[in-house]
Amino acid sequence: MSDITIHQPSAEFVKQANVSGMAAYEALCKKAETDYEGFWAEQARELLSWKTPFTKVLDESNAPFFKWFEDGTLNASYNCLDRNIEKGLGDKTAIIFEADGGEVTKATYSQLLAKTCQYANALKSVGVKKGDRVMIYISMSIEGVAAMQACARIGATHSVVFGGFSAQSLRDRVEDTGAVAIITADQQVRGGKHLPLKAIVDEALTLGGCDSVKNVLVVNRTGGDIAMTAGRDQWMADLADKQATTCEPEWVGAEHPLFLLYTSGSTGKPKGVQHSTGGYLLHAALTTKWTFDLKDNDVFWCTADIGWVTGHTYITYGPLALGGTEIVFEGVPTYPDAGRFWKMIQDHKVSIFYTAPTAIRSLIKAAEANDAVHPKSYDLSSLRLLGSVGEPINPAAWEWYYKHVGGSRCPIVDTFWQTETGGHMITPLPGVTPMVPGSCTLPFPGIQAAVVDEAGHDMPNGQGGILVVKRPWPSMIRTIWNDPERFIKSYYPEEFKGKYYLAGDGAIRDEKTGYFTITGRIDDVLNVSGHRMGTMEIESALVSCTELVAEAAVVGRPDDTTGEAICAFVVLKRSRPTGDEAKAIAKILRDHVGKEIGPIAKPKDIRFGDNLPKTRSGKIMRRLLRSLAKNEAITQDTSTLENPAILDQLTDNH
Ligand code: PRX
Repeated sequence: MSDITIHQPSAEFVKQANVSGMAAYEALCKKAETDYEGFWAEQARELLSWKTPFTKVLDESNAPFFKWFEDGTLNASYNCLDRNIEKGLGDKTAIIFEADGGEVTKATYSQLLAKTCQYANALKSVGVKKGDRVMIYISMSIEGVAAMQACARIGATHSVVFGGFSAQSLRDRVEDTGAVAIITADQQVRGGKHLPLKAIVDEALTLGGCDSVKNVLVVNRTGGDIAMTAGRDQWMADLADKQATTCEPEWVGAEHPLFLLYTSGSTGKPKGVQHSTGGYLLHAALTTKWTFDLKDNDVFWCTADIGWVTGHTYITYGPLALGGTEIVFEGVPTYPDAGRFWKMIQDHKVSIFYTAPTAIRSLIKAAEANDAVHPKSYDLSSLRLLGSVGEPINPAAWEWYYKHVGGSRCPIVDTFWQTETGGHMITPLPGVTPMVPGSCTLPFPGIQAAVVDEAGHDMPNGQGGILVVKRPWPSMIRTIWNDPERFIKSYYPEEFKGKYYLAGDGAIRDEKTGYFTITGRIDDVLNVSGHRMGTMEIESALVSCTELVAEAAVVGRPDDTTGEAICAFVVLKRSRPTGDEAKAIAKILRDHVGKEIGPIAKPKDIRFGDNLPKTRSGKIMRRLLRSLAKNEAITQDTSTLENPAILDQLTDNH
């Protein structure tokens, strides 16, 4: 790393930071090392309000099903709303909502609490109770945040499904959770287009396996024409407006499941990652305080959707738990033009901005082609801190973000974490860490991250290995819903004697600084535009097109904008198509995957062969497919390949 520029946080930033200077960071790490439970307990007491204080901190007796603060009781929505009002923040803006078309609506803490309580009472009025699961299939909105908070308020476990997922994906999640109700909207608006939500819920519920769903509550977003099934569906406003604006929070144990969020693994269907209430909320609040340095007068904007974990932790829970003001944005970064983010930062005087490398890369391209959408055409002087999440940020994009968006004055926090980790794991702290573009730098205080070999031994710095976390931490995944065996296998495998949490990523630490750089997934999980996707899931979607597809294999290849792109190799039940016919069939298959999973899973590249490259024992040689996908010359040993001629067919020659 010695030839790479190191960017120091400015003295001015360091001076005012919630964690100020390397010595303060090291003292926190030391405290966590010498008294691990004491460190977390102190934070949990300071940052959260408990109805019943906990007396136990960490319970490792049933590892790897760890428990934190188990005998304490609290309510997440009380922590995010009521207690801010009790502190005198009732009239403070909690959410500034900007619609796709630019209309702005604000909600104060008092207003957000009133809406949350009405939604909570609405849910109760249709029989939803503590422990029930509620699906939320809605776009970015104040209502979406209120729906999540309302579930938390009554002790129902929410499971938000990103509005870009298909009816089939929604159905699978409904069935797995056994949800009793779905909160949705009539439509969503993105990039000037009205897209269905309720109609997709209707379709999902006809696909079978969803008998648990007794109620569908529909927020009116566009007034679009939708069907309502009597006895099951009703407008949320009809039900909620007549409810009281107060609702006693349901005090739940710290381990009570706050939410389930589905994410892709290397095998099988997406897994329902279960998060707790106490430990999760603690880390959401603590990372918002230390990584984002959130202060009373900040305007915080996390551009993620509430359908992903980033939206859960850094929209619905973290900033609200600290009484912050945040932006919720309905639209897309390129509508009406690629200056939208910069204009919104200018208009709302955003001070902390958190987005994904994919968005940055696509906005760089647009800005380089058109000055009008370049950050320099906007007043971004309100910004004081930038963040990146979801995938590795390449140093060139990092430098552009630093210079053109942050005016070379804002630290960038490159936050490494996962759906399973609940919050940041490895990240610079903005008033502490000298930054190296492309490196997520050092573990968050208390997080025992390490790079090990296949047997679990520490790797020396400078040598790549497997990223693990050596001790349980409060916001970690508790289990996979309905599948504790898969939880153990995925995250606490026998190779590491069940001791270390296996992140599924490779990493390397710098020889001099000890800084971590994530080298990418070590399993069959792809990261496309920061969205996680299992290759097997896409393969299953392709072969479910039974009239056409005999066999399919999916790999990722590097892509300048989306990080990775999906490349599918397909054997049809009929002869191999070429030319226009191949293009037409590729389109059918792409649409089919869109219908099975969602548009984000559509392969960018589909190639047809009479067969796939296989060993004589019939195993698909994926490393060859990876080289073919990258259009690399095949240098690997192909002597075990049964059918070498196939490689030519699968080479991209258009
Ligand atoms: O591969 C890592 C990558 O995203 C994966 C987690 O994806 P997901 O659960 O969808 O959560 C995304 C938002 C937290 C990780 O296993 N990843 C996430 N952040 C980074 C990253 N890779 C490199 N650098 C990051 N900052």
